[in-house]
Order: sequence, then C-alpha cells, then structure tokens
Amino acid sequence: MCGIVGYVGPKSTLEVLIGGLRRLEYRGYDSAGVSVISPSGHLETRKKAGKLGNLVAEIEEHPLPVANIGIGHTRWATHGAPTDGNAHPHLGGKRQKLSLIHNGIIENFAELKAELVAAGTSFSSETDSEVAAHLIAREFEKSGDLVTAFSAVVVRLHGAFTILVIDEDQPDVIVAARRNAPLVIGLGDGENFLGSDVAAFVEHTKRAISVGQDEIVILRANSVEVRSFDGKPVQLEEFTVDWDASAASKGGWSSFMAKEIADQPQAVADTLMGRLNSDGSVHLSETDGLSHEDIKNLERIIIVACGTAAYAGDIAKYAIEKWSRIPVQVELSHEFRYRDPIITKNTLVVAISQSGETMDTLMATRYAKEHGAKVLAVCNTQGATLARESDAVIYTHAGPEVAVASTKALTAQITAGYLLGLWLASIRAVVPAAELKRLGKDLLKMPGRVSQVIAGLKQAERLGTEMADAKSVLFLGRNVGFPVAMEGALKLKELAYIHAEGFAAGELKHGPIALIEEGQPVVVIVPSPRDEESLHPKVISNIQEIRARGAKVIAIAEEGDDQVASYAENVIYVPQCEPLLAPILTVIPLQTFALALSTAKGLDVDQPRNLAKSVTVE
Ligand code: AGP
Repeated sequence: MCGIVGYVGPKSTLEVLIGGLRRLEYRGYDSAGVSVISPSGHLETRKKAGKLGNLVAEIEEHPLPVANIGIGHTRWATHGAPTDGNAHPHLGGKRQKLSLIHNGIIENFAELKAELVAAGTSFSSETDSEVAAHLIAREFEKSGDLVTAFSAVVVRLHGAFTILVIDEDQPDVIVAARRNAPLVIGLGDGENFLGSDVAAFVEHTKRAISVGQDEIVILRANSVEVRSFDGKPVQLEEFTVDWDASAASKGGWSSFMAKEIADQPQAVADTLMGRLNSDGSVHLSETDGLSHEDIKNLERIIIVACGTAAYAGDIAKYAIEKWSRIPVQVELSHEFRYRDPIITKNTLVVAISQSGETMDTLMATRYAKEHGAKVLAVCNTQGATLARESDAVIYTHAGPEVAVASTKALTAQITAGYLLGLWLASIRAVVPAAELKRLGKDLLKMPGRVSQVIAGLKQAERLGTEMADAKSVLFLGRNVGFPVAMEGALKLKELAYIHAEGFAAGELKHGPIALIEEGQPVVVIVPSPRDEESLHPKVISNIQEIRARGAKVIAIAEEGDDQVASYAENVIYVPQCEPLLAPILTVIPLQTFALALSTAKGLDVDQPRNLAKSVTVE
C-alpha cells in the first residue's frame, strides 16, 4: 500500500510533499518521510515512525532547506516493523546521495540482498525497498546516469512496485517506475508532480496522466517522458481530474468519515446524474465497450470485489438477477482465481473497487480477461489501474473518500449496481419496460431520501455512544438486508475493534442463536412490510426468538412499520422506498453507529489500526 508523492518545480517543495502526503495518508500511516535536494545540491532526508504529524514535528525541530525537487512517502509496513529506520526514503550506496521511496513488495529481495551483502553492502533497515536503493546507486556509479541506472535495475525486480528516485548528482530529475502498483503524473506549468493517485496533487493541477504497467517516468520541471521497461517511448494520454480539491479536506467536520457520511446524498445524486432520465429510463454510455449483442448472449455475471465493495456486489446481485434474470455470483477477488472458476466468453465479470487499485481485484480481473471474459469496472478513481484494464467502466462519482472506512463509496457503488441492473434488464427485456421505468423513477428519489436519513442520524449516534462498552454486537438481515448486516458488522470491527458479526436472519437457528445471552445487542435490518412477498413476518419472528433469549434489539425499519416498535428496544426509521433499493438508506445509520461507538472509545476513526485504505498487496 503506502502513499507516494514527488514534485519538481518552483513551489515550496516541502509544502507540496507534506500536502500530498496528508491526502495520501489514508494509504498507510505507519511512518512517513521526505527527501529534498537543495538548490546548492545537497540531498536531505527526514523520516519518522508513526503518523504524518510526527514527521512534521521532526522537520520543525530539524528544518529542511528550501528546495525545488523532492519525494515523500507514507508507509503501510510489509517488510520490517514501523520504526524510524524502516521508514522511507532509503538512501543507496556508499555515497548516500541517492534517495528512494517504494510502494509494493519486491518479492525477490532476499536473493538481491544476498548478492549485495556478498559484495560488501551494509543495510540500515529491514525493508525490501532498501535493496533497490543500493542496486540503483551501484549502477549509477558505473554509468553516471540516473535513468540508465534505474532502467537496469527495475527489470531485475519481481513483484509489485512504484519506485521514485532522486540523486544529488543529477538534481533536476525524478525517475520513477511502476509495476502492479499505482502511479499518476500531474502536469503543471513549469512544474510536475507524481502521486499514488490524483489526490496527491489535485490541489495544484487537474491535468493528469496515468502511468501504465512496466513503464518508467523521467520527470523534470519542464518535461515529462515515459518509456516502457524495454526503452520504447510511450504515447501520453492526458485526462482531466474531476475531483474538487476541497472535497478531500475535512471542511470543519470532526473526521473525514463524518464528512463522508454527510456527503452521501451528493454521492448518490452524482452517480445517477446523466445516467437516469426523468422518465426512469437508464442511459449508460460508458458501457460502449460492451455491445447489446454481448449483453444478450450473457450466460452469467461474476462480481469480484473485497470488503465493503463485495457487499455492494451482494446487494447488486439481488437487483440484477431480479430485473434482468441473468444469474449473478459474487466472489471475493482473492478467492476467485485460485479455484479454477468457470469462465466463458459469455461471462461478464464486474469488478467493484473504490480505489481501482486493490491488488486482489486487479489480479481477479486480469485472470478473467485471460480466460476470455469481458470486464466491467465500477470504480471511483479516475486513471486507476482497474479502469484502464477493463473493457468498460461505470465511474461512481462519490468524490475522494479519505477515511479508511468506506461510506459514500459504498452507497455510490450500490447505486451503480442498480443502474447496471436496470440497464441490463432494459436490453434483456424480460421485465416490462414500464416496470423498469417505475423502478428507475424510484431510484431517482433516493438522493432526497438519503438526505432525510442523514438529517435524522442523532438516534444512531446516541446509541453508538451509549454502547461504548459493548464487547460484541450482532447484525441480522434477510434478502438485501443480509449484506447490509454484514457491512454493519465490518464497520464495527474495523472502527471499534470489537467482535461483530452479520448473519442472514434465517441462518440464526442453524447455529448462531447459541451466541445470544442476556443483554446481547443485536441490530436487525427489518424488511418493508408493504411488499407482497415480504419477509417482514419472518424477521419479526426472528426478533422474538432472540428477545426470548435476552437480546437487546435495535431495529432499522421503514417509516410506517407500526408493528416493529413493540418488538425492539430501539427503532431507527428510514424513509419508504422500493424494497430492493432500501440498502442505500438502511446502511447509513450503521455507519454512524460505528463512528459514534469508535469515537466514544477514543479511537482514531479515520485511520483505524493495522489498516490502509487501498490494499495494493495480495
Ligand atoms: C471498508 O470499510 C474497507 N476499508 C475495505 O473493506 C474496502 O472496501 C476494501 O479493501 C476494498 O477496497 P476497494 O473498494 O478500494 O477495492
């Protein structure tokens, strides 16, 4: 994982680097560091274990010179504990004039290290990354040219890496490379940037280029050159970043997560914008990579994703199958390709990822493509690897999501899943067009309903705060409420570090009911009673079964459900909507509940322990 930023130009390099790292800290926060080269030609490095604030304090104590070039890194530890010594940048060679930052894992580092040690190199960290710094420094001593030295080394590295290098003896250039890890160039006027994603530089420029697999970037203040690892020039394709820089700042909120929960009406509205007409019909122009013929011939859809994104996939499955009658299976990306899945040319793989850089999901989609499937990405980040490698992309327009816990990206992903379902259904024409339009019109009302839920979150907040001492919370749901229950439990695990599990309510009697004892808090997602085929009576029976055994129930139910109040200690009501669309609403109180509980425990909600936002290792 790790966040990477590079800058060359006239601005205060330190300010650009620290600003970029602040926006990338979600990618890892075990340590942070920067290297700059002063105009007099001296390389200086500061690095510190812990969050970015520690590095900033270190620089205040030991200031860095004014500089026009520099690189910065925020780390999620893989090889070596999160200590000052293992923090990046790493210096290479005896000269100690070359500085390197790395995101990823160099899989053959042990073999390369042995080679260096045999040649007399001593190491000052336990990281795999330092190996690359010494190898490049050694090559630089031979050729005297950083690009030549760098190019000779990257082809020897196996695994995943984005690497940036600067050297005191060639102080006008940053050389960078990427393989299986993200890297984006930001284009300025007399200045240029590098970042793990556009958030690193969106404050300064919206002109960007995403770097392809196995490519080397040679970045100067007035020029950008990209070559393939085998030295061929690469044609540059520029895109405009549509994120607003202010969207990646807290803007007065207590945490990014609190802000991002409140951003959800906009995230859902923006994801619908231009895709859903006022008559309820869907127009998905981004799917041009898939013809109507492809859709008509589809035998199966496989959704691949991880974590919260996989729950978005679970919800989409209910809608896509119901409306289009195409069989859908949802697979965790990391399980998918290792079980020899059945893929034909009539399989559509839908990869859902906020970051578009989750390595497990990238590997799953590559596998699917190699085996003949078409890949459609649902992605929130422009220029991300997943978007580049897919046949078609539906962008979720949630804006930058900084908190590690996913909130607005999820509701935008669910929204995209409904759009996809309606679009597929309109082509397959199994459900009458009028019915699809009715559903589409109801979907159009969701941003307003999300606003109503946001306005009424005080109760979820109070309940979360009151339950700060809870040791375990269970979540139950049925049908589309089941993935919502799973997501509620995931939020609590990642934010509050307590035992939390989500179950299909019907599964309870097959085992989990044994967990219920006096006082056990259970959150139940109650389906709408208005639906003819509603599972409402069955869920009410499930509630009675657990209450009889001492559970304390918090129900999430729709407005007008008069029965539920007599079966639960607390009921959080959300507006009525088409029952299949309800997850967009019912998941929000669970986000706030987890946020409040974590806050009451005094934990860092934006950067929970051991995690990183974008998981770029397998
Ligand atoms: C959710 O709160 C998580 N932090 C995590 O499960 C996340 O959704 C997962 O790692 C997938 O990330 P992606 O959407 O960027 O692929």
